[in-house]
Amino acid sequence: MGMSDEHLHLHPSTRRFADEDAQSRIRRIRTDRWIGYARAEAVLAALEDLLSFPRRTRMPNLLLVGPTNNGKTMIVEMFRRAHPGTAAEGNDDGMALLPVVKVQMPSGPDEGRFFGAILDALGMPFSPRDRIAAKQDTAVRVMRAAGTRMLVIDELHNVLSGSAMQQRRLLNLLRWLGNELQIPLVGVGTAEALRAIRSDDQLVNRFQPYPLPLWSDDEEYRRLLSTLEAVLPLRKPSHLADTALAARILSASEGVLGEMIAIIIRAAVRAVDTGAEAISARVIEDTGFIRPSERRRVAV
Ligand SMILES: Nc1ncnc2c1ncn2[C@@H]1O[C@H](COP(=O)(O)OP(=O)(O)OP(=O)(O)O)[C@@H](O)[C@H]1O
Ligand SMILES: [Mg+2]
Repeated sequence: MGMSDEHLHLHPSTRRFADEDAQSRIRRIRTDRWIGYARAEAVLAALEDLLSFPRRTRMPNLLLVGPTNNGKTMIVEMFRRAHPGTAAEGNDDGMALLPVVKVQMPSGPDEGRFFGAILDALGMPFSPRDRIAAKQDTAVRVMRAAGTRMLVIDELHNVLSGSAMQQRRLLNLLRWLGNELQIPLVGVGTAEALRAIRSDDQLVNRFQPYPLPLWSDDEEYRRLLSTLEAVLPLRKPSHLADTALAARILSASEGVLGEMIAIIIRAAVRAVDTGAEAISARVIEDTGFIRPSERRRVAV
């Protein structure tokens, strides 16, 4: 019987790592991983639902809105990976299929750069000197041929970095694109993205907003802490979901998911380094974590 039988605070798939040396465990702690939580699962289900929606002239669209660093991109990236493209060789007509295309709205956006971003995502070479109409034609033709059934536009708030004229043109373009391809559009961005969509009467009716708000101390938050604790190979239980520790992490992170995860990962690394083997308020303190709002004030 090995030591690993004892680590009941860990997820069964993590237990076997608890006996590894510090270096390997720290590498594991720092490795990107998907942590599921109810709200993310609900968004993924809504996206799944959209993807299977029958084609029609007016497709419903979705707008994932939330503060920065709060897990929006992770969700759509997770979704895209769940619907990978299939290589050309596998298909009868020799055309690669790409059901979900994900792009970022360029900052300083114009139609040319936007279509450039789509062509990049499709792996289509183009020259920056190509006319907008040519890029647009190619983008639409290739998405049709690739059987694209959803277009995800991250950083949609970047629309607002253009002039009033450019904003109008881009919003018109989104409306046109959805109609032309008859596929749902998924916008992702901060509250500013919602503001941009709301400036267009026709678009606002077609985008169902999905908020991804800051976290507060509730059951879902406590569950997230327990999930995280179970996948970090520390040898002792930290009881992250206990009231005092949960409150400490929430206040340091100011309710931002990415911050919560960063705090816990830093503390877990420190817990391995120092041999403490569990995260405590003290360990978190010792990592010298700076709150996001303070960080913005730090002079450089
Ligand atoms: N489900 C998750 N599982 C694990 N880590 C996550 C998850 N969601 C978010 N994170 C962590 O939070 C960080 C920020 O997430 P993400 O990049 O998705 O935020 P965002 O809302 O897109 O922010 P921005 O508006 O600035 O683009 C990620 O780099 C990752 O470390
Ligand atoms: Mg993002």
